[in-house]
Amino acid sequence: MYMKLVDIEAGVTSTPRYGAAFSVTVGNHVLALQLAHRSVRQFTEEHVTEEQVRALIAAAQSAPTSSNLQPWSVVVVRDPARKSRLAQLAAGQQFVDQAPVLLVWIADLARARRVAARNGAAVEATDYLETTLIGFIDAALAAQNAVVAAESLGLGSTFVGAMRNHPREVAAELELPRGCIAAFGLAVGVPDPTENAGIKPRLPQAAVVHHETYDAVAADAPLSAYDEHLLAYYRRHGLDGAWTERILTRLEGPGSMAGRHEMRKILEDLGLPSR
Ligand SMILES: Cc1cc2nc3c(=O)[nH]c(=O)nc-3n(C[C@H](O)[C@H](O)[C@H](O)COP(=O)(O)O)c2cc1C
Repeated sequence: MYMKLVDIEAGVTSTPRYGAAFSVTVGNHVLALQLAHRSVRQFTEEHVTEEQVRALIAAAQSAPTSSNLQPWSVVVVRDPARKSRLAQLAAGQQFVDQAPVLLVWIADLARARRVAARNGAAVEATDYLETTLIGFIDAALAAQNAVVAAESLGLGSTFVGAMRNHPREVAAELELPRGCIAAFGLAVGVPDPTENAGIKPRLPQAAVVHHETYDAVAADAPLSAYDEHLLAYYRRHGLDGAWTERILTRLEGPGSMAGRHEMRKILEDLGLPSR
């Protein structure tokens, strides 16, 4: 389904990624796949095989990882009852329940602590915010590799950041040891072709790319045009709200954070103090 959305001719890859004509002249199939990404929130009932999951995880483990620490784990959830409970903890999002597989990516400092215990060593660095960040960063890099791998196999996925709405309950459900927190989920399945969704326009490159030094005035100039592009995209797909409006609502304050404003305390409770 993804390849149909992108033309590859004479090394040119075109994409509606910016809501307007855009192509790169160093095109290839990997780029085509990446530029055609979209989150999938509607799945068919088709099975995702164990072999496919093994391939996704091999891709995930092939991502770079800080100092080769590999400070993450992933819990493969297929049990419908458990998946349903996790969906409830993640804002009751229906696609989590519906997906045949939910991969829960864990920032995992517990493994290093077990290694330390077996070696009579100290790993006090795991008590610092920097190491927790490494756990989250590396889990995200790994999961994104799995996303691309899934798309290359004709599967679709959506990240589930709402898995951090109730991290203590998610940790209990997955029997995570201290030093572990679910960073996010990834719902995976075969895309339902009737889903009303497309390639979501991103900010123009002029808004995110700076040359040599950061130029806020130049970067913000294209934002109102982007609002129009994104609003048109949302309206085509039965939704509303320009980018400016959406980000201001999402970032309004603690009340718009679905409980995650207490993350510092939650991390501490789960054994990831952020000194
Ligand atoms: C870390 C992370 C957490 C996310 N959490 C959710 C989520 O809980 N629910 C959801 O529907 N989409 C979630 N998404 C998907 C984003 O909404 C989506 O990637 C974004 O709107 C861009 O759309 P696209 O992926 O279709 O291009 C998440 C994405 C990321 C990267």
